[in-house]
Amino acid sequence: MDTHREVKSVWRQVSSVSGDYRLRRLEFLLGKKTTETRYKEHGCVYKTDLRKAYFSPRLSYERLRIAGLIQKGEAVLNMFAGVGCYSIAIAKHAEPMKVYSIDINPYAFHYLQENIRLNRVEKTVVPIQGDAKTVTENKLQNVVDRVLMPLPERAYEYLDYALLALKPMGGWIHYYDFEYAKKNENPVEKAETKVSEKMRILCSNFQVGFGRIVRPIGPRWYQVVLDIHLQN
Ligand SMILES: C[S@@+](CC[C@H](N)C(=O)[O-])C[C@H]1O[C@@H](n2cnc3c(N)ncnc32)[C@H](O)[C@@H]1O
Repeated sequence: MDTHREVKSVWRQVSSVSGDYRLRRLEFLLGKKTTETRYKEHGCVYKTDLRKAYFSPRLSYERLRIAGLIQKGEAVLNMFAGVGCYSIAIAKHAEPMKVYSIDINPYAFHYLQENIRLNRVEKTVVPIQGDAKTVTENKLQNVVDRVLMPLPERAYEYLDYALLALKPMGGWIHYYDFEYAKKNENPVEKAETKVSEKMRILCSNFQVGFGRIVRPIGPRWYQVVLDIHLQN
């Protein structure tokens, strides 16, 4: 706090991220006893409560990378939107028609709505509270050009629903996963092999166009992303 005068509150993370809402336990150390904060990134501002909703500044590059892929007029579905970091970056840096943004956590949904207002993207970002499977099945079948799946723990399980949301002519899925890789193994290739097996059962015409390590998350464990293109 002496060095960074803007810091009003210091907390220590005392657990790893866990549970459906992907939360971490924090221990109060110093300053004002609040976990609500604002974070600025790529010209967007995100209000969040670090105790009640998932947040990670380490995905900053990935959010901008995805925003850079969006074509003018696209309909996008973010199945696991959190407080809106991907969705709002897309709305601000690209020209999508709509970004449907689902989250199951009521607190994340609250901040998602507030961040949509703060960043003035009400016309583009559509917040929806609920389970991504149910919402997609009931409201978003065959309506989008692109699906984001930024929940590595569950993306594999929800892949069928990402396909369901895509328009009949196809589109893109940005699939996130955690992968373990030994010294001589490539985590991106391992994820591609795993997902391709399931994709072959779900549809015939797909291609993994790109893949990368998003970040290391532990010894030999990696978060990876695959950009999957589907036709028809
Ligand atoms: C890893 S966070 C990613 C949040 C956001 N995309 C970001 O980068 O900040 C995953 C989010 O998925 C939400 N979630 C978990 N299960 C869900 C489900 N079944 N349907 C919709 N959202 C879900 C959690 O509440 C959490 O906010």
